[in-house]
Amino acid sequence: MGLASWLKRSFPVDQEALIRLTAEPIPNHLKRWWWALGGTPLYMFVVQVITGLMLIFYYVPETESAYKSIEYITYQADFGWLIRSMHRWSSNIMIAALLLHMMRVFFTRTYKPPRDINWMFGVTLFLLTLFFGFTGYSLVYEQMSYWAMKVGTGIAGATPIIGPWLADFIRGGSDIGQNTLTRFFLFHTVLLPLLIVMAIGGHLYLIRAHGVSELKFEGEKETEKKTFPLWPDHIFTELIMVSIIMIMLVTLSLLFPVELGEPANPNVTPLHIKPEWYFFPVFRWLKVTNLTIGVLGPLVFIMILFFWPYIDKFFDKIWPDKEVGFWIGVAGMLTINAFLVWEIFAH
Ligand code: HEM
Repeated sequence: MGLASWLKRSFPVDQEALIRLTAEPIPNHLKRWWWALGGTPLYMFVVQVITGLMLIFYYVPETESAYKSIEYITYQADFGWLIRSMHRWSSNIMIAALLLHMMRVFFTRTYKPPRDINWMFGVTLFLLTLFFGFTGYSLVYEQMSYWAMKVGTGIAGATPIIGPWLADFIRGGSDIGQNTLTRFFLFHTVLLPLLIVMAIGGHLYLIRAHGVSELKFEGEKETEKKTFPLWPDHIFTELIMVSIIMIMLVTLSLLFPVELGEPANPNVTPLHIKPEWYFFPVFRWLKVTNLTIGVLGPLVFIMILFFWPYIDKFFDKIWPDKEVGFWIGVAGMLTINAFLVWEIFAH
């Protein structure tokens, strides 16, 4: 029996079903990368999983040894610095791509029913990714990690009603210590990956079920063919994109490898505490308000973002053709960017 017929007999695959599954029609505008940005965070997540698994071979989640194990990875393990840098850079690219993907979905208003639930899956994915960043940053157990945990869990503690319980739950007690590191390690390497894989599964299932929205562009001829097949056309476009993003990722990691700061010291508060750039707007907001408003603001923002498809529908009903949602989006983006820039230049 030949290899092909052995495989066909012992591992039968329904050819018809496979063709049906991969022959999904893709709208023409997804030939351009900026319209198909959803794929980028997906590849970055795969890179995160692979490089993260490599890091766990050497990482020790103990307050006494965590920093030393990262020191070992960065300065002694073969290519450890490169793997660590790729892990850090791909998390940044993932968040940047997510922001752009969200903006494209927002401004093309493709969150409208029936894609409302998929928008909510998206917001959940965004929050999970931010939590990935926060927990990962803390695992290094350098000064900034320690103080980010301190400030971050303090902010969680100011959440109305459940705050004190939430902070104790995340910390594993009333202060940062071994329990906190154990929990952050568990969140970062087990719980968050599980949740994000489930949420990506739901997101992709719904994209498949509804299809990607077909957008109309100015100057497009009516007779033009509106779609092209996923396999092989779209897959090839995506492969080219993956190659370009991977070259970009490796170049960034080679040119700007991740550094290591001072080890965590609970007795010395650093002069300037700075989180990662994607927390800058919230950090600046917290500085210009008090703790209660500082926490309530982002919570309200997240709720608005989550239920946006229905809020936008409501605006459309009372002010039809006024594009209120669009202008709220522009105002929101400008405000967030202003807070981001303010924090970049502030000392
Ligand atoms: C790990 C995170 C995510 C992955 C892997 C992902 C993946 C994708 C992919 C592959 C598409 C197909 C079209 C495209 O590429 O633009 C898509 C569409 C969509 N995404 Fe995401 N996405 C993620 C996060 C988000 C976020 C944060 C939001 C919004 C808050 C969102 C909302 C949507 C919506 C509503 C669609 C349908 C758009 C349409 O039909 O035109 N996604 N996503």
